[in-house]
Amino acid sequence: MSVELKTPEALEVMRQAGRINSEVRALLIEAVRPGVTGLELDRLAKQAIAERGGEPTFVGYAPMGKPPYPGAICYSVNEHLVHGIPGKRALQEGDIVSIDLGVTYHGYVSDAATTVAVGTVSPEARRLLESTQRALWAGIEAARPGNRLGDVSAAIGACGKGYGIVQGYGGHGVGRQMHMDPHIPNYGRAGTGLKLMAGMVIALEPMFALGSPATEETDDGWTVVMSDGSLSAHFEETVAITAQGPEVLTRIA
Ligand code: MF3
Ligand code: CO
Repeated sequence: MSVELKTPEALEVMRQAGRINSEVRALLIEAVRPGVTGLELDRLAKQAIAERGGEPTFVGYAPMGKPPYPGAICYSVNEHLVHGIPGKRALQEGDIVSIDLGVTYHGYVSDAATTVAVGTVSPEARRLLESTQRALWAGIEAARPGNRLGDVSAAIGACGKGYGIVQGYGGHGVGRQMHMDPHIPNYGRAGTGLKLMAGMVIALEPMFALGSPATEETDDGWTVVMSDGSLSAHFEETVAITAQGPEVLTRIA
């Protein structure tokens, strides 16, 4: 496995890609309310990215065997875990929706997601969101030179006790492409795996569910749903590993 190290110049461009991602994601989160549809949010994302000189990374993304992805965002409601295609389904009070956004700027990608509560949600949903977000922060905290990838995965997994920790999907390296080495599972053993170095940039994305961790893909070729229909949450940030520690490139102000 070869992991790309970014030059200071590349990192500076990635900071800008991350800045645009966080600004647009903030607009999207603000627009979430009962009645709004995925298509409306997707249109907003496309416009706001273009205004800032970026490109929507996800549009046309077509890994082997998959239809080209149509949206600028992934929009995954309730039991939909990730990669939901924005459609006409309107959000309802009590839903939780993961909004995942990729922005390419001057050839470099930023990738980030937030699961948002629509109005008041159940106490279990709220705890699920809190735990998944806490897992992301714990992973970020461990993303520093001298640590190993297993330290990051273990820190994330430790926050998932009592939840279904999804196994088939996880974090990844980011750079000129969205999905690069290394793959970063959301569970693992501390002290194992790749040694982290300054200059690496990674996207961490814990995914937890209230029930079983088993997932399946729906027949649109993209949407990943929990097999048992349970609520699921997903948070993601793009993080640069620097000599000073983790620097979150996609943080919302
Ligand atoms: N953050 C998601 C991931 O890393 C982005 C999916 S890209 C899409 O898997 F094009 F598939 F939507
Ligand atoms: Co990602």
